[in-house]
Amino acid sequence: MKLLDNPASPYCRKVKILLHELGMSDAVELVQTGGHPTAPNAAALAHNPIGKIPTLIRDDGPALYDSRVICRFINDHASGSFYPEDTIWETLTLEATAEGALDAAVLMVYENRSRAEGTQDPAWLEGQWAKIDAAMSVLEQRWMAHLTGPIDMGVVAVGCLLDYVDFRHPDRDWRAAHPALADWFEKFGKRDSMRATIPRNP
Ligand code: BEZ
Repeated sequence: MKLLDNPASPYCRKVKILLHELGMSDAVELVQTGGHPTAPNAAALAHNPIGKIPTLIRDDGPALYDSRVICRFINDHASGSFYPEDTIWETLTLEATAEGALDAAVLMVYENRSRAEGTQDPAWLEGQWAKIDAAMSVLEQRWMAHLTGPIDMGVVAVGCLLDYVDFRHPDRDWRAAHPALADWFEKFGKRDSMRATIPRNP
């Protein structure tokens, strides 16, 4: 199998962390894939009409896309425990919470990148940041017991969110407002799978 990947993408990172945790990193070839929202990558478009990554190219079936679909497929394929039946709705809701906040963090990046210096819309940027901050508050209020329990894809997605905010929005001091989350991430960020997939510019 091949994964259309970008080392900066937190969505691709979710898949790579899962592969690492399952001991399957060698089963999937990473194919570095550039592209921009207004000029999607040709390889991604050939397999995914939306042209987005991650896209998983399978040897024996059509390509899969959207990190949530790919992660669920890989977990099933490996009989993993990252979508446990007994907590499936919690796991999926936690994953969706982290992905929603990630979407807001990525939209902030695109606003900064696609507009000339000084022409970015502050209301848009702060509106997106408010979503991330709200998600972090809910993570602290509702999800700490889940986060400190067995690792699943919801937990992985939260790890990807926090590291992506540090990577792309280092000026936002989220730790001051969310100390319990910061303490959790201090430990979670040291996992081998997290260290092996640290985001970087392509
Ligand atoms: C980034 O450069 O921050 C990025 C790249 C791919 C997907 C999402 C974000």
